[in-house]
Amino acid sequence: MPMWPSPMKCQRILFYSVMLLFSSARIHCAISSDGEALLSFKTMIVGSDGIFLHWRQEDPDPCNWKGVTCDTHTKRVIYLSLANHKLIGSLAPEIGKLNRLKLLSLHGNSLYGTIPPELGNCTDLQQLYLQGNYLSGIIPLEFGNLLELETLDISSNALSGSIPSSLAKLTKLKSFNASMNFLTGTIPSDGALFRFTENSFVGNRGLCGKQVGIECKDGSLSPSANSESPSPGSPPSRKNSTKLVISAVATIGALLLVALMCFWGCFLYKKFGKGDIGGLAVDVSGGASIVMFHGDLPYSSKDILKKLETLNDENIIGSGGFGTVYKLSMDDGNNFALKRITKTNDGLDRLFDRELEILGSIKHRYLVNLRGYCNSPLSKLLLYDYLPGGSLDEALHERSEQLDWDARLNIIMGAAKGLAYLHHDCSPRIIHRDIKSSNILLDGNLEARVSDLD
Ligand SMILES: Nc1ncnc2c1ncn2[C@@H]1O[C@H](COP(=O)(O)OP(=O)(O)OP(=O)(O)O)[C@@H](O)[C@H]1O
Ligand SMILES: [Mg+2]
Repeated sequence: MPMWPSPMKCQRILFYSVMLLFSSARIHCAISSDGEALLSFKTMIVGSDGIFLHWRQEDPDPCNWKGVTCDTHTKRVIYLSLANHKLIGSLAPEIGKLNRLKLLSLHGNSLYGTIPPELGNCTDLQQLYLQGNYLSGIIPLEFGNLLELETLDISSNALSGSIPSSLAKLTKLKSFNASMNFLTGTIPSDGALFRFTENSFVGNRGLCGKQVGIECKDGSLSPSANSESPSPGSPPSRKNSTKLVISAVATIGALLLVALMCFWGCFLYKKFGKGDIGGLAVDVSGGASIVMFHGDLPYSSKDILKKLETLNDENIIGSGGFGTVYKLSMDDGNNFALKRITKTNDGLDRLFDRELEILGSIKHRYLVNLRGYCNSPLSKLLLYDYLPGGSLDEALHERSEQLDWDARLNIIMGAAKGLAYLHHDCSPRIIHRDIKSSNILLDGNLEARVSDLD
């Protein structure tokens, strides 16, 4: 006689089976199909700014994920906005499963690889922004299925091949941009693409058609603005070979000219260039005169000129809006700063000299001492006392630890006293007109000296 389980046992088995079924169903329905598609999309993205942080498998749907918007009733994804999020990677074909998508914006990222043809399944798409990536390959023919499309921007990528004629079907297209790619061939002239102008296609050197004003030859993919170019396979005409010779001769001529100019440039550089760029030998060689103030320096003009000749790039200690500053070290160990101002206008020269005379006559504890100047045909060389502390600007930005509050206060007081002297005690009064931290220099004890009164 067969042994039947008791009714009690039957009930328990039924209960466990239902529970098992229920729980497996729960696992299976962990996330919606759109969520799954987005997770596949995410898998192919190998870098981002962290936008995917809360895209989690455990969620029932992706509707609260960053960049995702769902329809409130159907919970289907309608917008995917991930522009400018530093996405690096390729586009997963699963994106085509988001077939209720109305907007897809992925522009301004670093997406590479091809555009999946599956995107053509997203037939509700109205806005498609893929510009500013590194997408390559062709524009999928399947884009012709996106009949709701109003905006298509695939500009600034590396797309090649021709623009599919299927795009002519996109009658709702209001904005189309395929510029800055490597597209070739004829732009479909019938249907939707006809009304777009050159702006939509610029930066594709291989496109031809009415929109870009370049005539296409015999339906060949390579465009030609010149109706005389031969069709493939046909022997070059006599006219063309003449053209070829002319262009070859012109190229060789141009190359020779460039070589000659380089040669001439090198020659000039060797002769004068070095001096112009860094050395002062050129400045003082053609009859320079020295004017010294205060008369307390133990050097003759000849000594100074000799020293000036030795200055070059290695002696540069700074440069500003008016010229380069060199450190001039005399044999007895004294240092000076030499500002070299390139001459622009001879007429202003006399005025300049007069001003320098005035400035040279001023001496004050908180002003940089102008010791003299050298008038050369090429430049004006101003000789100042050398301030080992450099400028306040450098001290504040490069050695700020050196400046405690006492030092800062002391510098402010010094600079103020220097300016007060110029404004109140000089006759005629002198207005600085360019007071700034780089024009307040510091001596070895971090005492301020106002500079550039000129
Ligand atoms: N007498 C000096 N002693 C030591 N260093 C100096 C002296 N004069 C200038 N320098 C250095 O040369 C740098 C450039 O000075 P310069 O006056 O040519 O330019 P600037 O003050 O930055 O700008 P601007 O041309 O507007 O005055 C200064 O920042 C400073 O480091
Ligand atoms: Mg200055």
